[in-house]
Amino acid sequence: MRKLENKTVLVTGGAGFIGSNLCERLLQQNNKVICLDNFATGKRENIQPFLSDDNFKLMEGDIRQLDDCKKAVESVDVVLHQAALGSVPRSIKDPITSNDVNVGGFLNMLVAARDAGVKRMVYAASSSTYGDSKALPKVEDKIGKPLSPYAITKYVNELYADVFAKTYGMELIGLRYFNVFGRRQDPEGAYAAVIPKFVKALIKNESPIINGDGSFSRDFTYVDNVIQANELAATVETQEALNTVYNVAYGDRTTLNELVSSLKSSLSRFDTSINAIEIIHGDERVGDIPHSLASIDKARQLLGYDPKYDISSGLEEAIEWYWNNLS
Ligand SMILES: NC(=O)c1ccc[n+]([C@@H]2O[C@H](COP(=O)([O-])OP(=O)(O)OC[C@H]3O[C@@H](n4cnc5c(N)ncnc54)[C@H](O)[C@@H]3O)[C@@H](O)[C@H]2O)c1
Repeated sequence: MRKLENKTVLVTGGAGFIGSNLCERLLQQNNKVICLDNFATGKRENIQPFLSDDNFKLMEGDIRQLDDCKKAVESVDVVLHQAALGSVPRSIKDPITSNDVNVGGFLNMLVAARDAGVKRMVYAASSSTYGDSKALPKVEDKIGKPLSPYAITKYVNELYADVFAKTYGMELIGLRYFNVFGRRQDPEGAYAAVIPKFVKALIKNESPIINGDGSFSRDFTYVDNVIQANELAATVETQEALNTVYNVAYGDRTTLNELVSSLKSSLSRFDTSINAIEIIHGDERVGDIPHSLASIDKARQLLGYDPKYDISSGLEEAIEWYWNNLS
């Protein structure tokens, strides 16, 4: 597999869940890593182990400030842009801030990279761009209408990237992540993702609350698969692989009921009482799509993407981490 090594890489949102995992891998591969983050949702503890590494530089700043973006891109080879305000419900509650960060901040990063002559930027796009399309599996060129302000912001990123690639000759690749999970994903707060939220509840011997009847399904994707996709996108040279978007997923779907059963049986290894915990079903959430499943054929063909972790092996890794860090 092509690796991203011996480069200077800017990871925006590097103190977040996916960003900190990218920083960790890049440091292991002899890159110089610059992390731009304003700690809106990221945590210092995520990057604490890297602060003593001479190859790691933290720049506390905000992508809504063009000057911060300009300082961060100075003399970097490639940008892995992760900074954004995630979460559909957050964007429904406060669409203006989600738009300012996710759209305004994205545009600032494009302009800063363009002006600094940094050609390649790989950015976190989202499966939410498929919106109300019912087609399964999701194929990159068939999207529906967005179902949330968050989904709009991520789609606008793709539109801007397309125009910047054509207009300024940049090399921009969007990775539409599908429900990523793994170590360091935040279980706290109203906008936590479902896997860490459920794991935390179960570890505390509390009932996880599933929105709806649990039949909704997702293509849950372990974070190491996402790292692989970023490395491949950052290093691909074939012209037809550039200036486009890719699904980044495993290519299988799991219902929320199946997910909770797996989590209960995995966590029972550590505490047998967890198997008996009842599940509570709540109301369906506004803006939720019933099913999500990616075709990963395009990423396989053009990037050489070959995800190593399915949901079971990913959960084994993640649960071990959560047990050690939350219990
Ligand atoms: N986790 C998923 O399942 C998933 C799915 C699809 C897309 N994505 C996208 O992947 C990226 C990373 O997501 P994550 O799950 O690691 O979320 P995260 O919240 O853990 O990380 C986002 C990081 O961006 C930083 N940030 C937010 N606003 C900023 C600003 N104005 N300036 C600088 N930094 C800022 C946060 O502090 C945080 O460290 C995001 O763009 C998200 O939209 C994630």
